[in-house]
Amino acid sequence: MGVPEFDLDTTDRLLTTTRSVRKRLDLERPVELDVVRECLGLALQAATGGDNQRWRWIIVADEAKRERIGEIYAECFRELMAGAGDGDGAEEEPADLQEKFSEDLAAQERLWASVDHLIENMRRVPVLVVPCVLGRLEGSPSWVSSQYGSVYPAVWNFLLALRSRGLASCITCAHLEREQEVAEVLGIPYEEVLQVCLLPVAHHTGTTFGRAARRPMDEVVFVDEFDATTVGGPGW
Ligand SMILES: Cc1cc2nc3c(=O)[nH]c(=O)nc-3n(C[C@H](O)[C@H](O)[C@H](O)COP(=O)(O)O)c2cc1C
Repeated sequence: MGVPEFDLDTTDRLLTTTRSVRKRLDLERPVELDVVRECLGLALQAATGGDNQRWRWIIVADEAKRERIGEIYAECFRELMAGAGDGDGAEEEPADLQEKFSEDLAAQERLWASVDHLIENMRRVPVLVVPCVLGRLEGSPSWVSSQYGSVYPAVWNFLLALRSRGLASCITCAHLEREQEVAEVLGIPYEEVLQVCLLPVAHHTGTTFGRAARRPMDEVVFVDEFDATTVGGPGW
């Protein structure tokens, strides 16, 4: 390792404790738009394919627009959840899910309670940010990859910048099921501009965020040869 240019304790803590915050978004405390702009200024330091910077970002502060987008988000999520059970008509039992995903069910339940809280409250979050990119998704695999991929690095920079200033967010995509309706709310030319995600932004309550439990590195990181036995088994 070279000589660290940064205080690694601080940077590693920032990188390992920037979480998806839903229940701890402070819905009462206003968010200053200057701070959001400052964080977006840092976000815009991120890379884009060919340095094309075809991104556009909309900060949504207007109450009526937030309300409408929050409603669309909630409806999309509920439709997705209803659709998820449709498969073969049979609901999956928790035990099946545990075997299929080899996951900690209590953690899954906590996650769903948190997701549900955001579904109920997205419309009340003080500021929403919608990152967009010029163009739609049609095209070659490299084009498709660079469309989303030219915005997500900046999205993550934005989340890191928020966290370092006592604010928080959660990357969400559910509203894209009805992207065109949100485009109409915000005056986005849908045929030419792709929305990438929806970011609720608020101060957070409480002071601590922990490191996440993730799959062990050896299950997901390989050297020189892909381990195909990790595909299709439990937790694929
Ligand atoms: C591309 C992407 C889409 C996501 N969409 C949603 C979403 O629609 N709603 C939501 O509540 N969380 C969403 N999340 C957040 C994930 O659920 C979250 O990152 C994951 O549970 C891990 O939690 P952590 O970020 O706190 O470590 C999304 C995250 C990513 C990266």
